[in-house]
Amino acid sequence: MIKPVRKAVFPVAGQGTRFLPATKAMPKEMLTVVDKPLIQYAVDEAREAGIEEFIFVTGRAKSAIEDHFDHSYELEQSLEDRGKDEILETIREIIPEAGQVSYTRQQKPLGLGHAVWCARYHIHDEPFAVLLADDLILAKPGCLKQMVDTYQEIGGNLVAVEDVPKDQTDRYGILDVVDDDGKLASAQGLVEKPKPADAPSTLSIIGRYILQPEVFEQLDRQEKGAGGEIQLTDAMAHTIGDVPFHGLRFEGDRYDCGSRLGFIEANLAFSLDREDMQAGVQEMLKKYS
Ligand code: G1P
Repeated sequence: MIKPVRKAVFPVAGQGTRFLPATKAMPKEMLTVVDKPLIQYAVDEAREAGIEEFIFVTGRAKSAIEDHFDHSYELEQSLEDRGKDEILETIREIIPEAGQVSYTRQQKPLGLGHAVWCARYHIHDEPFAVLLADDLILAKPGCLKQMVDTYQEIGGNLVAVEDVPKDQTDRYGILDVVDDDGKLASAQGLVEKPKPADAPSTLSIIGRYILQPEVFEQLDRQEKGAGGEIQLTDAMAHTIGDVPFHGLRFEGDRYDCGSRLGFIEANLAFSLDREDMQAGVQEMLKKYS
């Protein structure tokens, strides 16, 4: 029986050095695309996919994230007094039900695999999703919902994938593909950030995962991989053979908000996708073409 995915892990402990000075006193996950922080897009995407429990793996100086998903009584009262009902509703919708959200700290920056491992006591023995907020995906339905729909049929470990230019394989986890029907690919191995010459394919992992709890048995070994870090990719690779592994080519556009250019493009794409902004942004863009 394929167990439902009810929990999601959001690794948000990274320092965001690529966005300094913006991220000096503010978590990179709070960077705004149009009018919403990156982390809220990820949480909304998870909610749309049926996730009921949200586990944030945080670090020092990340309290703005906790505040974002909590009530702000003064703000809510002042909006209510001024009759700003619409924005008040928007603010209230952000907040998960009491007890649905929990926080645990990654005390040392030992890698993505380690960050996910830090959530193990919150996950226990059931499948779970992992969402990396800096991979922002414009898709309808959302990327994780597409994955959950596929997962309900095939189970196992499932990651979002897309083809990347050959010279960029060293930025991603790459699949060693054995079977590929154009939508779903299966892999016999995975390599974290291989040099283009060593990459088994150009099919790369995007920051959305549905994982079986067996991955924790691998992460327990705390084995270091690429960059001297404990890699989630390696832990998944070790379960291949015991747990089915697939990559899903999702429908939608993904923006790498871990890079400045990707972040700017995301702002353009998401504003052009908004009815209330489209015309204004198109008009503005004429100046720059
Ligand atoms: C992480 C993963 C990598 C994956 C990427 C997606 O790398 O380790 O396998 O392809 O996310 O964004 P990071 O971007 O954290 O270096």
